[in-house]
Amino acid sequence: MKAIQDLRMEHDAVRLTLKVLERMAQKIERHGSPDNPQHVDQLLEFFTVFVDKCHHGKEEELLFPAMEQAGVARDKGPIGVMLREHELGRECVQKMKTALLRIKAGESQAAKDFARSARDYISLLNQHIDKENNVLFPMAERQLSESTLAELSKGFDRIEEQKIGVGKHEEFHKMIDQLESAYLK
Ligand SMILES: [Fe+2]
Ligand SMILES: [Fe+2]
Repeated sequence: MKAIQDLRMEHDAVRLTLKVLERMAQKIERHGSPDNPQHVDQLLEFFTVFVDKCHHGKEEELLFPAMEQAGVARDKGPIGVMLREHELGRECVQKMKTALLRIKAGESQAAKDFARSARDYISLLNQHIDKENNVLFPMAERQLSESTLAELSKGFDRIEEQKIGVGKHEEFHKMIDQLESAYLK
């Protein structure tokens, strides 16, 4: 069960960063620009690399195909819904990146646009994580064999090395701690 447990732990880290994003977006909306633009860059990099490339990569490249093989429907079933939500998440992150560039260029409407896309992303991802934790993962734990789960775990380590690289994972966790103290304490 380690493979699924690892994904659940990543969800906990993602939820924490969504709380940071919420506070950050409130401040940006209130002040028209971020107090610390570097923090916003760091968080957006986390959403692109850790959340999308790595975490969604593990789900899309390994977990979902294994579940399909075990008989879980893709197109009209839960996997199709998860894939669509990953896609919507990517679009929200892209919108935040564009809005941030406009904020940096001094455009007055851009802060509101950033906050709107941030809120869309937060509610999308929170409910996506709930569905995976409460529906999809229990399904995987029921339907996948011990040996498939062990294979998944090895595959996850490989994806992590390829997409994030050694050392970067630790760096992300350090960054989360720093942002947590700056925005949530
Ligand atoms: Fe997902
Ligand atoms: Fe997930």
